[in-house]
Amino acid sequence: IDHPEDYTALIRDLKESDRLPDNIVHAFNVLVRNQPTPFDKALKTGYLSLLYLVQALSAERVTRHIQVGIFSNDMFNITGYERIEPALATIHGLSKVVAQEFPNLVCRDIDVSLPHTMGNELSELAKRLLLEFVDRDRQMSIAYRGKRRWVQEFEPFALEVSNPTSGYLQEEGVYLITGGLGRIGLKLANYLANSVRARLVLIDAFDFPAADQWDKWTEQNGAQDVTSIKIKRLQNMKNAGAELLVLKADVSDKEALSAAFGQAVQQFGRIDGIIHAAGIVGTHAFKSIPEIKEEDWRSQFQAKVYGALNIADIIADREVKFVLLQSSMSSILGGLGFGAYAAANAVLDALANLQNRLGKTQWICVNWDGWNFEETNMPTSGLGSEIAQLAILPDEGVAAFERIFSYLDLDQIIVSTGDLKARVHKWLQIEAAKKEDQTPETGGELHDRPDLPNPYVEPETDLQKQVAAIWQKLLGISQIGIYDDFFDLGGNSLMGTQLISELRDAFQVELPLRSLFEDPTVSGVSKIIEQERSEAQEGEMAKVEDLLKQMENMSEEEAKKILEQKKGKNQR
Ligand SMILES: NC(=O)c1ccc[n+]([C@@H]2O[C@H](COP(=O)([O-])OP(=O)(O)OC[C@H]3O[C@@H](n4cnc5c(N)ncnc54)[C@H](OP(=O)(O)O)[C@@H]3O)[C@@H](O)[C@H]2O)c1
Repeated sequence: IDHPEDYTALIRDLKESDRLPDNIVHAFNVLVRNQPTPFDKALKTGYLSLLYLVQALSAERVTRHIQVGIFSNDMFNITGYERIEPALATIHGLSKVVAQEFPNLVCRDIDVSLPHTMGNELSELAKRLLLEFVDRDRQMSIAYRGKRRWVQEFEPFALEVSNPTSGYLQEEGVYLITGGLGRIGLKLANYLANSVRARLVLIDAFDFPAADQWDKWTEQNGAQDVTSIKIKRLQNMKNAGAELLVLKADVSDKEALSAAFGQAVQQFGRIDGIIHAAGIVGTHAFKSIPEIKEEDWRSQFQAKVYGALNIADIIADREVKFVLLQSSMSSILGGLGFGAYAAANAVLDALANLQNRLGKTQWICVNWDGWNFEETNMPTSGLGSEIAQLAILPDEGVAAFERIFSYLDLDQIIVSTGDLKARVHKWLQIEAAKKEDQTPETGGELHDRPDLPNPYVEPETDLQKQVAAIWQKLLGISQIGIYDDFFDLGGNSLMGTQLISELRDAFQVELPLRSLFEDPTVSGVSKIIEQERSEAQEGEMAKVEDLLKQMENMSEEEAKKILEQKKGKNQR
């Protein structure tokens, strides 16, 4: 588990000996646990082992269709009584992204409750689990509790406008916001300042000028400077009657966070509620699975997860009415490039659930769709427009907060700007969506090339012609130029994963998903295929040279034996 290179060696060995499986059972996380597992330990058997396995399949360019059954216990909260290990939720976030980035891999999360006896009940459970591999109903999240099989469904629920002070908020309440100088943090602080004249503790990771330096800062750096803009917002909050305390602390550092809490209590006497909005977003949060390195998943878990775990520890003996966690739609729907981000958010979802069993503070987890803070700059075409259509505008986000604060006792709220059931079907029941999408809506008839900003340039090389033919079939468009943008041609991100899968099948190369986002044209993708092919060839050449070197030192008998083995394998 500690050695990613072992996973690669295993997959390489299976591939070279032609024994790659059709099914993989990932069962590191089925364990009898008598006490909570330390987070980092559960992370190893959970997130990291799945990550390394998929990275190994990708590194070895495995394009074969494989079903991955990811078994666990203590992951899903079904009955309300089972133990929950929040760290295991990381696999749940990651597995959705695996299935999206690698359409040849079908993942199922199957959480069981272990029977009390090791006899019939256990073999009965084992039989049912094996059936999950053959009797497929396209569900990705499944739980077994006793003889019952549970699957996850979402139902819409309208939160009516109400008065937040009849719920969680109170006039002049003391609210601590981690990531308080970030976009959502500041927006929410502004709402609290104006609605209840809150006393606000804003914690962030960077140095911010002290209040008596604000005017001087703005004078020296101009009103358009990022810090000056934040200063202006803070001054407006003060004018609305709020009191402010801005502190620097890394929320993943328990001592630093605890000291900041101490300062807040010293100044305001108590803390009524906490909004955990510290996190790393934007391009840092976006890495395809093969690209995820330790620093990437660590940076995702740092503020969001370790910050939330620290908050839980620090407030264990304090009277805090609520903790509001900012999770994201990625833990529900996955998302290309969100292999670490979705996992971190999934932990928040599970943690809220767990904490509500343990203490008197109400934990609420909100899974937000993406917010759009640049309404004036919304893309109207390409992949950006697909995302922008569903984005939450800041004032809409605040209106949602207002409703959330009005309702007591909700553990988790998903704020979906689109029909969630349809999105789940599209993104998670990916096999089904894939089959339905295979025939273009034209019923095989091809559309004309749409009006595009760039002129049509005919494919020249054989490779470009083959790539263009695959695009044509997938998009249902008769003529595709080598500089036409996949997303301008009507491709969406789901079709993108399908395209990558078909290209991998056709050319037997491991194409990184990001190749489609960096240069989504026939020309760009063809270049990457060429590059991948030549790298693969170089790898093969290096192996041959290595073998020749070994053979130089062998007896004729030994060399013959090795050649015969290789011949036998090639004929299989
Ligand atoms: N924006 C969205 O569309 C969206 C959607 C769903 C969920 N969310 C979640 O909502 C939260 C806030 O998002 P946002 O858009 O407001 O992001 P943001 O503008 O980047 O704000 C996050 C703030 O957290 C700070 N931070 C990062 N690491 C920290 C640490 N270790 N200790 C203390 N502060 C730290 C950041 O400081 P630096 O700037 O110095 O890094 C930043 O000021 C995030 O958890 C995000 O995942 C956002």
